[in-house]
Parts: sequence; structure tokens; C-alpha cells
Amino acid sequence: MANEVTVIYSSRTGNTEKVAKQLAEALGATCHSVKDTSAVPEGADLCVGTWIDRGTADAGAKKYIESLRGRRVFLYGTLGAEPDSEHAEKCIANIRALFDPSNEILGAILVQGAIDPMLIEMFKSMPKDNVHAFTEENAARYAAAASHPDENDFAQVIAAAKEALA
Ligand SMILES: Cc1cc2nc3c(=O)[nH]c(=O)nc-3n(C[C@H](O)[C@H](O)[C@H](O)COP(=O)(O)O)c2cc1C
Repeated sequence: MANEVTVIYSSRTGNTEKVAKQLAEALGATCHSVKDTSAVPEGADLCVGTWIDRGTADAGAKKYIESLRGRRVFLYGTLGAEPDSEHAEKCIANIRALFDPSNEILGAILVQGAIDPMLIEMFKSMPKDNVHAFTEENAARYAAAASHPDENDFAQVIAAAKEALA
């Protein structure tokens, strides 16, 4: 029989939480914020979700990930950049490196998530030579992210999790 599965998430503006709720429903799993993991069962397989903060897991997810020992983990998350970008690949590698080697990472996927409009406003005030400066190219990228995560993103995460946990 397959192990019990629990979904955990860290989310600042709700994107990763949306993915977590859809994933938990599809898996028939309970869903917990990293802010309160007291009810996470000891032996359960985990789907651990994070939003990407400067190329890696955000502080809340990072702390939780670093506390894990001997778990089977499926990793998921949301980021502003394109999920098939080199940046996304690096983010996954950075997060994988946070896990103690006693854990087994079963799989990992990142999907796009809308960027906080407040952050976009901040980018607008940045000097032109800054990588986040508000260029037309960056503006198009933010606009593309704005409708995510969408139904297709949910479906991708669910399919990847089911395959990894099987
Ligand atoms: C402070 C900050 C740093 C971020 N750093 C990155 C980054 O390095 N790469 C990226 O692709 N997206 C980055 N993002 C975008 C978020 O990862 C993305 O919008 C995510 O979907 C937010 O998820 P949440 O709604 O669950 O908080 C950053 C956002 C913030 C607010």
C-alpha cells in the first residue's frame, strides 16, 4: 500500500498556497502551512512547496526543509521566471542542496506564479543597469506571469507528484 502523503507549503502572496490546496485535494492529503507543521504525521511522504526568493526556497520553507530527516519528499513551488529557464533549474538545484542526505527527493517541479505588483513598482524605481530594472522585456515577463498559477499549472504539479509518489 502507498504511504500516507501530506502537503506542506510556504506562500507569501497565495500562489504556492493555491497549488498546495489543489495538490492536496487531488491526492486526498492533508495540507499544512510551514508556519504550523505540528500535525504533520511522522512517517508520511511529504510534498514540500515553496515560493522562490532570490533563487532558492524562501526563509520559511528553508527552515522547514533543513529540519527534515529520513523523509520521502516531492518538491514543488512557484516562481516569477519561466519554469523551463536556466534560472528555474538553478533554483531547484539550490533547494535540493538544502535537504539533509537522509531524505529522498522523489521529484521536483516549479510552475509560474504572479509577481507581487508592489515588487513590480519597486523594480520601476531601479537604475537601468540593475537586472530587475523595468525594461520592456521584463515588463512582458511580469505580464506573462500574472495569470499564473492556472489550471494547467495545477495539472502539471498533480501529475508530477502522482508519478513521483507512485
Ligand atoms: C522578495 C522576492 C524575491 C523573489 N525572487 C525570485 C527569484 O529569484 N526568481 C523568480 O523567478 N521569482 C522570484 N520571485 C517571485 C516569486 O517567487 C513568485 O511571484 C511566487 O509565485 C510567489 O509565490 P507566493 O504567492 O506563494 O508567495 C520573488 C518574489 C519576491 C517577493
